[in-house]
Amino acid sequence: MGTTRKDFLKLSATAGGALGLGLGPSSLGGQEAPSEGPAARYAARDVQEAPRKLDVLVLGGTGFIGPFQVRYALDRGHNVTLFNRGSGRSVFPYLETLVGDRNGDYEALRGRRWDLVIDNSTSQPDWVEMAAEFLRDQVDQFMYVSSRSAYADVSRVPMSIAAPTWTYERAGLSPGDRLPYGLAKAESERNAMRIMPGRTTIVRPGLIIGPGDETDRFSYWPIRIHRGGEVLAPGDGTDPVQIIDVRDFTEFMIRLGEDSTMGTFNCVGPRVPRPMSELLYGIRAVTTAETSFTWVDDVEFLAGMGVRPYAEMPVWRPPTDGNEGFARFDLTPEVEAGLTFRPLAETAADTLDYHFSRPEPRREALRSGLTAEREAEVLRAWHARRG
Ligand SMILES: NC(=O)c1ccc[n+]([C@@H]2O[C@H](COP(=O)([O-])OP(=O)(O)OC[C@H]3O[C@@H](n4cnc5c(N)ncnc54)[C@H](OP(=O)(O)O)[C@@H]3O)[C@@H](O)[C@H]2O)c1
Repeated sequence: MGTTRKDFLKLSATAGGALGLGLGPSSLGGQEAPSEGPAARYAARDVQEAPRKLDVLVLGGTGFIGPFQVRYALDRGHNVTLFNRGSGRSVFPYLETLVGDRNGDYEALRGRRWDLVIDNSTSQPDWVEMAAEFLRDQVDQFMYVSSRSAYADVSRVPMSIAAPTWTYERAGLSPGDRLPYGLAKAESERNAMRIMPGRTTIVRPGLIIGPGDETDRFSYWPIRIHRGGEVLAPGDGTDPVQIIDVRDFTEFMIRLGEDSTMGTFNCVGPRVPRPMSELLYGIRAVTTAETSFTWVDDVEFLAGMGVRPYAEMPVWRPPTDGNEGFARFDLTPEVEAGLTFRPLAETAADTLDYHFSRPEPRREALRSGLTAEREAEVLRAWHARRG
């Protein structure tokens, strides 16, 4: 609706300054390095060097989470090597990139040693198996990026790692069948732990959000609220939300490596689940748009209009029908192990700033949420129904 990035930067600078929200230079128009993508602009500032320097191997490293992980590791003073099919050369031209393929070509890793390997780049159990077998005697710690989707049961309140994960039996599948994402992640975890017992760290992120996220799932909300007007808001505002800023997630992973912490960790936040209303009002606080929310608390009405939780209404998953614990994780062990949470204001402001840095065609073609027309149609039907 005609708002430019320059306008937004002006607004976010005013909001951040006035509210004392600690928005970093990233939100205020800092310089962007030629590579590293959003990590160069939005990574944590003033990072202290770690007391112990690690040799870190990142399998992947050049997509969404990788660059933030690598940037933080470098800022902490660690040595980082990448392994991928070659894209590392343009994203991190000054780092050593070992070129291979998760699909069976690990030769480039032979004869080397690392303190920590982080496996970002696959959900395929046999690829995790190959990497762990290959690296078994060459690394001290194997960290695998799994997912909250590994849980077969998210009905428990609060959720913890005690909840069961997917197995072939639970999924009604057999080895050789095409694996759904959650089972693939759970099997990948088991492969890593079987091959490197006592030396494995599993991280299970929920929705990873922030600048650089090209799925537009969380981003839908800041972008929509920034546009102003009447916003369709799902539920009655009380449904809990737990998600994770890409920087909180990746910094936590590096800390787990620095402390040689093994085990399994959920990666969502904040610690006290945030109601949907606080999420949307919190996002509104970093814009100056004139926005009102119309809370539509009738899930069946929304379904009838083709508006499903998490799909057309991203982030939102009502805590019913087996999803009671989906956004109610007890994060005590994770916080004790070093998980921290940025203010929502910083995530929202940086997400918007990133959005306005994208080329116009991309800004106009969001990959999640409702189009303006569809949203207006649903709101009209809702008001008509309510008289
Ligand atoms: N986004 C979310 O909300 C969410 C939630 C839960 C879990 N996760 C998990 O988080 C991880 C996200 O990963 P990311 O993409 O951001 O990681 P990343 O490490 O930043 O990027 C993926 C890397 O994988 C490399 N790669 C892809 N195919 C390869 C192959 N065949 N052989 C070798 N390298 C290969 C790519 O480089 P090349 O193309 O050059 O090979 C790239 O460097 C995934 O495991 C995902 O399941 C995401």
